[in-house]
Amino acid sequence: MSAAHSVITIDGPAASGKSSIARLVAQRLGRTYVNTGNMYRAVTWAVLQAGVDPQDADAVRAFATGMVLESPVVDGKTQVCISGRTPTDADLNSDPVNRAVSFVARVDEVRNRLVADQRALAATGPLVMEGRDIGSVVFPDSPNKIYIDASEEVRASRRGAQGHADQIAERDRIDKQRKNSPLVIPAGATVIDNSHITLDQAVEQVIAALHLA
Ligand code: DC
Repeated sequence: MSAAHSVITIDGPAASGKSSIARLVAQRLGRTYVNTGNMYRAVTWAVLQAGVDPQDADAVRAFATGMVLESPVVDGKTQVCISGRTPTDADLNSDPVNRAVSFVARVDEVRNRLVADQRALAATGPLVMEGRDIGSVVFPDSPNKIYIDASEEVRASRRGAQGHADQIAERDRIDKQRKNSPLVIPAGATVIDNSHITLDQAVEQVIAALHLA
């Protein structure tokens, strides 16, 4: 499918630094920033609120079929609203959500709903969209695909700052090994390893790699 506006795709594993980089790239270019991890987190939060077992794929599928999802743009970033309720940042980054999100993100119906929404967002204006499958599945035709990586050591120390290292390692394992849309380096992506450069340098490298009209 062809998007109405161009989308800069930024993928990479947990604790790679991709969210900070993507947010700054969006600010620099005056584009809307879309954090698709927050979409999967919002669905997971709603699943848990509804008392649905996140590891029961059939129950999650049934829940995802009935949910109403909206992604309004607020202050240059998308928010996620599910069936009329907007989870807070604390809700999205809570321990129960961290533990459950990779299970919910494995369910096809959840991915189909969110991918359709992500593609629809491209009609609203130029975006920087960050996630795991944005360059490989959501916008494979984008001329601007970036994959952000960092060494295991550096990611481990960033993990320490973001939550329990073992939980994040387990999430990465599930995200890379799942059948549908696993985390991969998208074909044609520029890989930027930000282990030993500053955030500003990483942003500069991303911007230098882009082909913008
Ligand atoms: O970027 P994050 O760590 O907040 O993402 C949370 C989870 O959501 C991640 O473990 C896998 C899932 N996810 C996904 O499957 N596809 C995306 N495009 C973004 C996130």
